[in-house]
Parts: sequence; structure tokens; C-alpha cells
Amino acid sequence: MTKNIAIIGCGAIGSQLAHYLNDGKILGFRLVALYDEEDEKLNLLEKNLKNKHIGLYADFDKFITSKEFRDTHLLIESASIAAAKAYTNSILNHDKDMMIMSIGAFSDPDFYETTTEIMKKKGNRVYLPTGAIGGSDILRTIRDFITDITLITTKPAKSLKGAPFFRERGINVESFKEKTIVFEGDALEAIKQFPSNVNVSALVSLAGVGFKKTKVMVCIDPSYERNQHEIVVKWKFGEFLIRVKNDPSPDNPKTSYLAILSAIECLRSISDKGFKIGS
Ligand SMILES: NC(=O)c1ccc[n+]([C@@H]2O[C@H](COP(=O)([O-])OP(=O)(O)OC[C@H]3O[C@@H](n4cnc5c(N)ncnc54)[C@H](O)[C@@H]3O)[C@@H](O)[C@H]2O)c1
Repeated sequence: MTKNIAIIGCGAIGSQLAHYLNDGKILGFRLVALYDEEDEKLNLLEKNLKNKHIGLYADFDKFITSKEFRDTHLLIESASIAAAKAYTNSILNHDKDMMIMSIGAFSDPDFYETTTEIMKKKGNRVYLPTGAIGGSDILRTIRDFITDITLITTKPAKSLKGAPFFRERGINVESFKEKTIVFEGDALEAIKQFPSNVNVSALVSLAGVGFKKTKVMVCIDPSYERNQHEIVVKWKFGEFLIRVKNDPSPDNPKTSYLAILSAIECLRSISDKGFKIGS
């Protein structure tokens, strides 16, 4: 059965996903609606889509009471942490499945709890793609044996611009002349300070040992063009390092192109039959 999809947030990730779905490149799914609080984003995206038979909504109440929403099986959130927190529980209560990109939302324990409770009651699924890094499989596998885990994120200034960490301290993000560690703390604090930059730390925390026990280091490297994430892990029966160097997406330097591809692969794995590779 073909499943209907709606996308919340039509920026770098949402637009690319909309194009893949609209072009029929992800078998088993059909794009039926787009929701974004900015009309401009909706119109720009719709203008470039081949198939125009899609509901466009800039008002959440109108969206959630629409025929397209009623017919939707899976909603993809690719907007912001605030959007994920505002819409998720209401959508899940309507018996829909979701894919959430703004994973940092789950660093709020109350939000995590209520979402988990609703899923238990309703039996629906929330998919969290691996995003800008891999390794969630191994982290899940060894989570009970991890003794030390650190995520080291290194980005150029343009990928960290606008983060509350710099705004609140009056630091000009462009002023760094050499590689500098700007933040060291737990994943909980990292997400507060860099909500649009370290979604990876949320995935690592959820797959591994939680937000408080996951250490995060954020570095600025002005000579660097890519977004680099390293997960350094020690566990009872070994240790490992996963290092990923990503090109930023052309539409949003904060978002790695890999994150978009990981959402596409997550959709494919939902609809695929046959082998399921990896645990
Ligand atoms: N999981 C990961 O690995 C990963 C990687 C990169 C980005 N992200 C997260 O995914 C989200 C989307 O990233 P992006 O690069 O596409 O961002 P973007 O800024 O390019 O696009 C976000 C879009 O959502 C819309 N939007 C924002 N808040 C909204 C709201 N409350 N209601 C409706 N629409 C709203 C904006 O108008 C914009 O069009 C961000 O939260 C980002 O931090 C996750």
C-alpha cells in the first residue's frame, strides 16, 4: 500500500525530501501536503515541484483539520526544535507516525516522557534518522557497557552562526582566527546552546547513555569548510572512534547534506521488503 506523507518545514531538508518524493524516487510513499509557517517557503517549493496536486498550509490548525492530514500516514518534521515540541504530540494523538529531524527536542525530559507515553498508548512509531552521522547501531548495541562517550563537533563559523551560545556572550563567531574549543559540557547543555547545530548529540544520547552522560565538545575551525563529527567511545569490551566529515547542504550551512540523505534512507527502510541490513 502506498503511504501518504506530509512535510512540516520546507527548508533545506524538507525541500529536498519533497523533491525526492514528488519525483517518485522513494517507492511506497506519496507526498500529499506541505506545511510551513512561511508562505514564501511553501510557494517557492511548490513552484519547483513537478506534481502540483499537493495541499499547502501555513496555518497549523487548518493543516491538522484538512483532508490531506486525515489521509496522511507519516508526517516528517523538518522545521525546528520548537516546531517538533509544539506539533508532535497532537499529531501522534491523531494516530499518525512521524519522522523527526529536530531530535534535540527530546533533550527535554517532559517532552520525551509524554511522547513515549502517547506512542505506548497509541502504538505509533517515531522515526529518528541517523542524520549527520552514523553509528547509532553500534551505540544501541553496546549502550549497557559504555564507560565514556564524547562527541566532538568541529565546524566553520558559517555553520555555527546564530547559535544562542555566541549571542548570549556577545561573541562574534567570525572573530576566531584559529581552531578553538568553544564549548565543553553535556549533551543537554550543548543542545540549549547550539539547538540548530548539534542534533547529532541528541541522536548519540538517545542511542547511547542519555543526555547527561554524553560529553560534547564544540570547536570552530575557520580554515575548515566541512562539518565534522567524531564520536569517541570507550566501553567494557573495546573502544572506537567514528569520524564523519560532511559537506554542508547548499541551502543551509548548518545542515549537512548527509542528514538529508539519511532521512531518505530512513523512508526507504520503512517501505523496503526483503533484507534489513544492520541491527
Ligand atoms: N537530525 C539531524 O541530523 C539533523 C541535521 C540537520 C538539521 N536538523 C534539524 O532539522 C530541522 C530542519 O533543518 P533545515 O536545515 O531544513 O532547516 P531550515 O532552516 O533550512 O528550514 C526550516 C523550515 O521550517 C520552517 N519552520 C520553522 N519553524 C516552524 C514552525 N514552528 N512551524 C512551521 N514551520 C516552521 C521554516 O520556515 C523553514 O522553512 C532543524 O531543526 C535542524 O536543526 C537535524
